[in-house]
Amino acid sequence: MILVTGGAGFIGANFVLDWLSVHDEPVVNLDKLTYAGNLHNLASLQGDARHVFVQGDIGDSALLTELLQKHQPRAVVNFAAESHVDRSIHGPEDFIQTNIVGSFRLLEAVRAYWNGLDATPKQDFRFLHVSTDEVYGSLDAQAPAFTEEHLYQPNSPYSASKAASDHLVRAWHHTYGLPVLTTNCSNNYGPLHFPEKLIPLMIVNALAGKPLPIYGDGMQVRDWLYVKDHCSAIRRVLEAGRLGETYNVGGWNEKPNVDIVHHVCSLLDELRPRADGQSYREQISYVKDRPGHDRRYAIDARKLERELGWKPAETFESGIRKTVQWYLENPQWVAQVQSGAYRDWVQTQYANA
Ligand code: NAD
Ligand code: DAU
Repeated sequence: MILVTGGAGFIGANFVLDWLSVHDEPVVNLDKLTYAGNLHNLASLQGDARHVFVQGDIGDSALLTELLQKHQPRAVVNFAAESHVDRSIHGPEDFIQTNIVGSFRLLEAVRAYWNGLDATPKQDFRFLHVSTDEVYGSLDAQAPAFTEEHLYQPNSPYSASKAASDHLVRAWHHTYGLPVLTTNCSNNYGPLHFPEKLIPLMIVNALAGKPLPIYGDGMQVRDWLYVKDHCSAIRRVLEAGRLGETYNVGGWNEKPNVDIVHHVCSLLDELRPRADGQSYREQISYVKDRPGHDRRYAIDARKLERELGWKPAETFESGIRKTVQWYLENPQWVAQVQSGAYRDWVQTQYANA
């Protein structure tokens, strides 16, 4: 079996669902269930013996040791993190605790477990760390996309904490020989995306008749990847990645934020037209910029394609259509995640925008 951390969040839950749709290998899913973790994401696995959910913290060494001994996983895939840049600006402490201290505790527990394995399982064991393109910092408009050799130049508390965790993973390989793999992925989108992030926020605000807040001039560029393509990349790296290597994962879909918002509005205009016949674009509102806002990210994913034969299956057009359709078909999921805590966050972030 494999141990997944953070498997009740956006990408982790998509990964667990994807894994169990193509494998019968069981998953132990360790998740703290922060505001971003949601067991409803895994509702379709209720009663499925291949999925064991454990609520807990990757910073809890005793719990980690117990889980590793009990379940004897052949691999650990680490998704658990605080993941929202804006929240990291308002309150970096949780990011330091989970992304740095938590990753350290996880590495230490895994190292002890791995050291105790017999020769064959020890040789076959893998620790896969899921990271981000944000560790590389911001690109000028004409600069080539990030390769795996790009300098680490993180600019936000979030990206600095992820960069720190990447360095720990690297060091645990070089110093202790832990068999690690790291993936650095661009912006994901798709089903189960928490509506504090750009794409799901625009969909749910549009449908609720609320403003669509674009930061600054909206010309910041992100490189969008459909979440299921990220999941297939992680499966492939886990299966065949070279030990100690990092692999960039991206969709070759660089787009400015305004284009993304316009695209979402056009799809909603087609699929759920406004009662007054106007476009959802009428709801766009330019608000103050994110402090330290990175201008552009772009991923060069050729290493993953060359070495492991991975390519994204979705274009942006096909993936965003599926995503908008999913939100239209799942209003109860949206209502359920928009709890009191969610409303508090929206008030804090956008009140004086
Ligand atoms: P998310 O915020 O939706 O989910 C994070 C999950 O981790 C939640 O279920 C949460 O409860 C859990 N968690 C948080 N702290 C924990 C702790 N201390 N112990 C155990 N569980 C904890 O995040 P996501 O968007 O699914 O991102 C998953 C991973 O992928 C993160 O490591 C993130 O840095 C990385 N990543 C995300 C993107 C993206 O576009 N969302 C892109 C590249 C990489
Ligand atoms: O690049 C990978 C990263 O992508 C991941 O590591 C992070 O976990 C993930 O949250 C995401 O970070 P971003 O900051 O790029 O995502 P977010 O959806 O918050 O913002 C995307 C862009 O949209 C960014 O330029 C800021 C802008 N934005 C965002 C929000 C929430 C707006 O203009 N308005 C908004 O209300």
